[in-house]
Amino acid sequence: MDEENREEDFESFEDSEIDEDIADKYSAEDTRNLEKNKIDKRRIKKKDQTSIHLAVDSVFDERTIFLLRKLLDKQIIGEFIGIINAGKEANVYLAYDKDENEIAIKIYKIDSNTSRWMRNYIIGDPRFKKIGRNPAQIIFLWAKKEYKNLKLAYRAGLSVPRPIYVNKNVLIMEYIGEGATPAPLLKSLKHLEDPETLFNVVYDFIKRLYKAGLVHGDLSEFNILLIAQRPVVIDISQGVSVDHPKSDQFLIRDLKNVFNYFEKYGIKTPKIENAFYEIIEN
Ligand SMILES: Nc1ncnc2c1ncn2[C@@H]1O[C@H](COP(=O)(O)OP(=O)(O)O)[C@@H](O)[C@H]1O
Ligand SMILES: [Mg+2]
Repeated sequence: MDEENREEDFESFEDSEIDEDIADKYSAEDTRNLEKNKIDKRRIKKKDQTSIHLAVDSVFDERTIFLLRKLLDKQIIGEFIGIINAGKEANVYLAYDKDENEIAIKIYKIDSNTSRWMRNYIIGDPRFKKIGRNPAQIIFLWAKKEYKNLKLAYRAGLSVPRPIYVNKNVLIMEYIGEGATPAPLLKSLKHLEDPETLFNVVYDFIKRLYKAGLVHGDLSEFNILLIAQRPVVIDISQGVSVDHPKSDQFLIRDLKNVFNYFEKYGIKTPKIENAFYEIIEN
C-alpha cells in the first residue's frame, strides 16, 4: 500500500463532526454514477419508504430512524430487505442501494453500557485524539473506526467487505452472500472442504493486516464468513493500530482463536510464540 493512502487512513479522528459530503466517499466512477443518478432520479420509481417501519422502527431510537429516513431520501439506501443479524451492539440488515445492488447495513445501537467498553479500545489508539464521554459520540466514533479499519484493510487488498458509507451510527458495506442468503460464518459450518488452505489464507490475513498497520482484535470463527470457499473477515470495529499499547495482547488472542479453531480440523499450527514474533518482527 502506498504511503499516501496510509497517511489518510491514519488521520486523526479528532473531528467528531460527521462528514456528510458523500462524494468523497465514492470513487470517481461512483461519483459519475451519482451525477448520472441525479438526472435519472425522476425516472426511478420512488421506493416505498415505509418499508423502513417494518424493518427497524421497533429497535432504534428517533435519531437513528431520522438518519435512516434521510439516507433513504438521499438514495444512499434504496430499500430495506430484511434483518441478517440482531446483535447486542448492532443489527445488520440486508438492503438494496439505489441501483438494487445488495448492501449490508450495520446499525449500532446507542447505548451507554456499550459505549463504556468501547472507550477502552479507543483510548491509546494514536488515531484518536479527543474522546468525549457522550455515549452517542463514542458510538459514532466506533462506527467510523470500523469504516476506517475496513477501508485500510480493503485498500491493502485483504478479504473484507468493501466499505461504502458511514454516517453517525450507520455503516454501509458490501454484502457477502448469494441472493437473499448471507454467507455462513465459519462457526456455523459442520464440515470444511479444505481446512488446510483455509487456515493458510486466514493466517496470511493476520500477517498482512499487521503489515498494513492493524490488529483485528476479535478474530475467530465467529467473525469469518465463507463464500465460494473464500474467507471474508468481518466485524473489525475493535481493530487497533499496531501502535496501540494492547495490540500485542490482541494479536496473541487472535492467533490463539484461529489456531484453536483449525486444530479441531487436524491442522498443525505453529507455536503461538513463534507466530507472534514472526509477525511483529517482519
Ligand atoms: N457484510 C456482510 N455481509 C453479510 N453478512 C454480514 C455482513 N456483516 C455482518 N454480517 C452478518 O451479521 C452478523 C453480525 O455482524 P458483526 O459485524 O459480526 O457484528 P456483531 O458481532 O458486533 O454483532 C455476522 O455474524 C454476519 O452473520
Ligand atoms: Mg461479530
